[in-house]
Amino acid sequence: ERIDGDGLVALPGLVDLHTHLREPGREDAETVATGSRAAALGGYTAVCAMANTDPVADTAGVVEQVWRLGREAGLVDVRPVGAVTVGLAGERLAELGAMADSAATVRIFSDDGHCVSDPRLMRRALEYVKAFDGVIAQHAEEPRLTVGALMHEGEMSARLGLTGWPAVAEEAIIARDALLAGHVGARLHICHVSTAGSVDIIRWAKQRGVRITAEVTPHHLLLTDVRAESYDPVFKVNPPLRTNADVEALRAALREGVIDAVATDHAPHATEDKECEWAYARPGMLGLETALSIILETGGLSWDEIAERMSRTPARIAGLDTHGVDPAPGAPANLTLVDPAARWQVDPGALASRSRNTPFAGMTLPGRIVATFLNGEPTVLDGKAVK
Ligand code: DOR
Ligand code: ZN
Ligand code: ZN
Repeated sequence: ERIDGDGLVALPGLVDLHTHLREPGREDAETVATGSRAAALGGYTAVCAMANTDPVADTAGVVEQVWRLGREAGLVDVRPVGAVTVGLAGERLAELGAMADSAATVRIFSDDGHCVSDPRLMRRALEYVKAFDGVIAQHAEEPRLTVGALMHEGEMSARLGLTGWPAVAEEAIIARDALLAGHVGARLHICHVSTAGSVDIIRWAKQRGVRITAEVTPHHLLLTDVRAESYDPVFKVNPPLRTNADVEALRAALREGVIDAVATDHAPHATEDKECEWAYARPGMLGLETALSIILETGGLSWDEIAERMSRTPARIAGLDTHGVDPAPGAPANLTLVDPAARWQVDPGALASRSRNTPFAGMTLPGRIVATFLNGEPTVLDGKAVK
């Protein structure tokens, strides 16, 4: 079969460092299969499946289960992320080596959704993963500074009467772990950077030679805390939407390369967990099917820079060697074809994700994914998933 690529842009298959697929445990919100379809439709060929499932992905058994489900779905390379500790806020390191040696070959370990508050535990985790060139992906929240937090702490939270999540709760723990990673000589990756101050700390750490990388989400590049005025929980997310000045700093950092990658933090939630009062709603937003369009809408990146931040660099961080690269002639390719001229309107009901919590509902966005190929086989053709 031949595809007419006239007018289309070819990108190496997108790689998402941060996806919540919810299986096992919350299959009503997403499954590996439904999330894989959403990913392929968004132009992705690989996703790193976050560990805050139920049970938590803290053993070889759970990561192998997720990995196997990904193979069965066959639409995207599902790379399980392991939990750093036993249970997400655990006090013992999980069996990182067993997960690394498992069929899932885990290289990324994360505390996403919680945080390793104990610096001794973080130090030991960094020492451990250094041995097999793994990386700790840190959720960047000091939980003792976010007790009860519902949105960004600032003028808007004061006005709305919602408890704030201060920027320092993110910045303090990034600074701590950057110093620890430098001391150990291990790799540290910062998840969903959301403040200007975090950017400054990451820049400083890189200048000192710390092996630190960072990601930013599409929603933190486009939306601000004024959205909370609506009290619509679709805008509730961790870390929270910040200020305009933060958005400007994040965009500049992504262009500069201080922030290395775009990652979605795709966080599907069942209707009852989102269609309730702000205070009770779960934090998180869908991201896979809108990510590239939001990056185009945000502007400021060339196609080559988009390939760098959404494919090549995240592939390197995740230790993937067949993604984020130009295929050798004749070799099976991981790539996606984008119609840069097309615009489409986001209809939550038309998304492949099992959940509906997109903050971009009703927006008309640039860029449509026309086709995606995984290992040379189409996963999306004509804008539709092949299975
Ligand atoms: O908004 C978020 N949702 N942030 C996280 O850190 C976790 C995620 C989730 O699992 O829903
Ligand atoms: Zn997180
Ligand atoms: Zn997350």
